[in-house]
Amino acid sequence: MSLTGRNLINTLDFSVDDQGEILALANQIMQNKTQYTHLLDAVVMASLFFEPSTRTRLSFEAAMIRLGGSVIGFSEQNSSSVSKGESVSDTIRTVCRYADLIVMRHPKEGAPHIAASVSGVPVINAGDGGREHPTQTLTDLLTIQNKLGRLTDLTIGCCGDLKFGRTVHSLVKNISRYRGVRFFFISPEELKIPQYLRSHLQANGIDFVETTDMDAAMPSLDVLYMTRVQRERFFNEEDYIKLKDLYILDTSKLISAKPELAILHPLPRVNEITPDVDNDSRAVYFDQVEYGMFVRMALIAKLLGKA
Ligand code: NCD
Repeated sequence: MSLTGRNLINTLDFSVDDQGEILALANQIMQNKTQYTHLLDAVVMASLFFEPSTRTRLSFEAAMIRLGGSVIGFSEQNSSSVSKGESVSDTIRTVCRYADLIVMRHPKEGAPHIAASVSGVPVINAGDGGREHPTQTLTDLLTIQNKLGRLTDLTIGCCGDLKFGRTVHSLVKNISRYRGVRFFFISPEELKIPQYLRSHLQANGIDFVETTDMDAAMPSLDVLYMTRVQRERFFNEEDYIKLKDLYILDTSKLISAKPELAILHPLPRVNEITPDVDNDSRAVYFDQVEYGMFVRMALIAKLLGKA
């Protein structure tokens, strides 16, 4: 199915084949950067960040600029009419008259879905509350594919805040569509994956283990996906403090890991990976940042029907 004019709100909105096209285009752009610098001349993207972001926002903006397009928008609610009480629907109805594409992040789960229902231009969800983050998943898929050479037959460890971490929710649902993928979910009891995700995996016959023991899981892993504890989604600070440093990946923990492990992290990192791990060739989280920009270039080009 053509991707032109479509929205990306949920990680399962695009079929495996559709997203394969996006990943392929991202690789093509990466290999022929100069060929794409005028692809989106005179095209405008609106970047509406109702919740703070560094990587995702700058990654989308850099992607658009590298394709020759321009960016309008805001990076916090306070600098928009939302602070005057405007609804998401009205903001989107207005902005879609100015822009050819809208990228939005919102603290409320489901807000991008509402936006897409009133927008006259494609809407991309750049993260909605603790629910989903589908473009981080495209980033993760491109990273895994390029570092390990495949998206099938993988044992993936997700570690940290699996309850509130939207990047994990989107990645798990998405990558479990590939053959032979199984999971170790490593977290404290309080931060286990949500029940809906557990049911989804069970209904689809996907193998997974829930554990508190990172060391025991380590030797089996092809991918280790580390996440920070999502402080902003906690009701009280005490609970956060109790849980925040339970899993810290350092070089000693990697002794039992496979030599071809790929360590990913959506970033920002707090304490969960010590800086000495950065020098290990298995640490790919800064390459992941760069893949994120190229995959967003590919996504934008596809949704606008330009590639
Ligand atoms: C993630 C997010 O915003 O969900 N960051 C990102 O987009 N790269 C992860 C996080 O904030 O922990």
